[in-house]
Amino acid sequence: MAWVGLTVNLTDLGFMKGVIFETIVSTSNPNGTPNAAPMGATMQDPQTISLNIFNSSQTSRNLKANRCAVINLTNDIEVYYKTAFKEANPNGKLPQEWFEKADSVKAPKLQSADATVDVSVVDMEPIGAEKTKFSCNIEKVNAAKMCPQVYCRAMSLTLEAIIHATRVKAFVNDEKQQKNVSKLLETIDNCNDVVNRTAPNSAYSAVMADLMKRIDSWRNKP
Ligand SMILES: Cc1cc2nc3c(=O)[nH]c(=O)nc-3n(C[C@H](O)[C@H](O)[C@H](O)COP(=O)(O)O)c2cc1C
Repeated sequence: MAWVGLTVNLTDLGFMKGVIFETIVSTSNPNGTPNAAPMGATMQDPQTISLNIFNSSQTSRNLKANRCAVINLTNDIEVYYKTAFKEANPNGKLPQEWFEKADSVKAPKLQSADATVDVSVVDMEPIGAEKTKFSCNIEKVNAAKMCPQVYCRAMSLTLEAIIHATRVKAFVNDEKQQKNVSKLLETIDNCNDVVNRTAPNSAYSAVMADLMKRIDSWRNKP
């Protein structure tokens, strides 16, 4: 996979039309500091990616204000965890040294990313009252030279647990959502069991242990 020096497009990176792929979207905050969060990204055509994002997120506010972002590709589970839950970082903030300026848009990119896609927002469409669909034009694709990566089930299961946990956090204090919360917690428990079986003493089991503690702390809140 010697990408360096080649012209790389979305299909080379594994994107398929209409399929949601998990990425880290980095944007610039109003005070100029970098922000990043895991977001699903869907290729609409070779030149367009769409993002469906909750209006309550900082990423949505930054995209509306700056109309650009970097879509970062990584398999690093810690990056997903610490960008989903900023409170899991030292001082509760994303390390600024993780970021550098992107080449072709006014947004930060993750230094550790395996590939980055600089995008500019060309259209914003409300999805109900809670979300916005951002259609993004591809400005530049950068990809690092890297080895093929062996697949471990713990990666997708830990990611699944993190995404469910973002919902648990949003619903945990809402009386009407308790049935949903129980279902999500059951799924997270199942993910935890398989992660500990397939990847004991790994970065995945460490993230799961921290996540389980964090979830307990939300549930114990009055
Ligand atoms: C794998 C994964 C995928 C996610 N995809 C989305 C998404 O497509 N849209 C969204 O609004 N939130 C998504 N989230 C949740 C956000 O990442 C989460 O709410 C985050 O805290 C938002 O951070 P921000 O406020 O800095 O933007 C996802 C989380 C994970 C772990």
